[in-house]
Amino acid sequence: MSLFVKKSMSSLMSQAGDSEKGLKRTLGAGNLIALGIGAIIGAGLFVRTAAAAGEHAGPAVTLSFVVAAIGCAFAGLCYAEFASIIPIAGSAYTYAYATMGELIAWIIGWALILEYALGAATVSIAWSEFLNKLVGGSIPYEWCHSPFESALDANNVLHTGYMNAPALLILLMISALLIKGTQESATVNAIIVIIKVSIVLVFIAIGWGFINPANHTPYLIPADAPAALKPDGSMYSYSGFFNHGWGGVLTGAAVVFFAFIGFDAVSTAAQEAKNPKKDMPVGILGSLVVCTILYILFSYVLTGVAPYTDFIKSGKEASVAYAIETYMTGYGWLAKLVTVAILAGFSSVILVMLMGQSRVFYTMSTDGLLPKAFAALHPKFRTPYKSNIILFVFVGLFAAFVPGSVAGDLTSIGTLFAFVLVCAGIMILRKKDPNLVRPFKTPLVPLVPILGMVVCTAMIISLPNETLFSAFVWMLLGLIVYFMYSRHNSKLKNIGEILPKANDFE
Ligand code: ALA
Repeated sequence: MSLFVKKSMSSLMSQAGDSEKGLKRTLGAGNLIALGIGAIIGAGLFVRTAAAAGEHAGPAVTLSFVVAAIGCAFAGLCYAEFASIIPIAGSAYTYAYATMGELIAWIIGWALILEYALGAATVSIAWSEFLNKLVGGSIPYEWCHSPFESALDANNVLHTGYMNAPALLILLMISALLIKGTQESATVNAIIVIIKVSIVLVFIAIGWGFINPANHTPYLIPADAPAALKPDGSMYSYSGFFNHGWGGVLTGAAVVFFAFIGFDAVSTAAQEAKNPKKDMPVGILGSLVVCTILYILFSYVLTGVAPYTDFIKSGKEASVAYAIETYMTGYGWLAKLVTVAILAGFSSVILVMLMGQSRVFYTMSTDGLLPKAFAALHPKFRTPYKSNIILFVFVGLFAAFVPGSVAGDLTSIGTLFAFVLVCAGIMILRKKDPNLVRPFKTPLVPLVPILGMVVCTAMIISLPNETLFSAFVWMLLGLIVYFMYSRHNSKLKNIGEILPKANDFE
């Protein structure tokens, strides 16, 4: 059998129509936009904005958001076309199966584990940190850090982590919710989205009155900006090409790219959308547009309230609460609310990431590339409960025992890799199947997909070498699994077996 055997469009279409025994179609356009915003607004906005402003872009971090959004928009437009044509779970993995063949599909599915599973682990670790902040640091160090982390306390006693218990707890709660039902999960997600978007809007509205124009002048960090004091007492220099001016804006874009990760997760829920052809493009592009507008306004206010150099020293951690407490007199309550919004925001990011991962596994399993357990649906809730449980154990091990920094960049690389292949897939499908009915068409093909590939590849190259190496090792492991297991179990080996059978869902 060829490694590049492809799924035919007609088999994908009939799989899409076969929701009788499969996942329930319960999500409307509003749910899908909420799902996107649920996955998008999180650590990227609340943590990385200040880091990008302080270290690279200054007030022009707003422009960094514009650059990152343009990069995502190219990929988003390609996702939207695919999602409108192939409305079944699996996202980039499914698109690759139809256009580039089984091996590339497997590789992309394996890379998506970096995006979704490791993304959920990273954000659950950040959730644990903020919970500890909210309760005044009362969780013992040992129980909220991995065994690879240690720190001295105020009495100079060295503490080393045992496990990150709060991270495990939030993963457990969200996995249980996902097993209970997609509609229930979507409802909880929608409530969280309302909370976090409201608090972002309140911060923008109140903070607007506290903008000090001097903090926005000059708008780009000048080459001769004085060095800023770091928390360890050393100085941070802005003289390097990527630490001021337009170079700083570009690096800032790579830093805040993390804030956009998640809009593609909407496409994993295609099989649960009521009217996928129309609503998927609306869900993907709508959530991207809403978040871009919020991000630009939010970062404009944040860098107007506090000078960007503050984010190098005292304001580096919990930057938003710091800016409110320090510069917005009388609004201490807002600082607390922002922390609650951050915790809520992180929870919904974890929710959508875990949901996306289980849907990708579901599709890979119905194709025979993963064991059947990943497609087993709960008899009553019709959710892939076994997959959710396995995923909880896998992601939980990372969250409990691995430091957050290790997982963060791997999340970005997995996502960017998926974006590149989706852009390539659109060009291939246009050539291969020009007459296919496309409810949504990516504009200016091949320009838009080519630009998407260029921007995303540039961001991959700018990631640290260790991250590239770890991702390479992960992909190698994936190839071993493919050649040892998946290739032999692929249902495409026997064309008659492409469609899911009734007992696949039991
Ligand atoms: N975009 C998500 C976040 O910022 C991953 O947390």
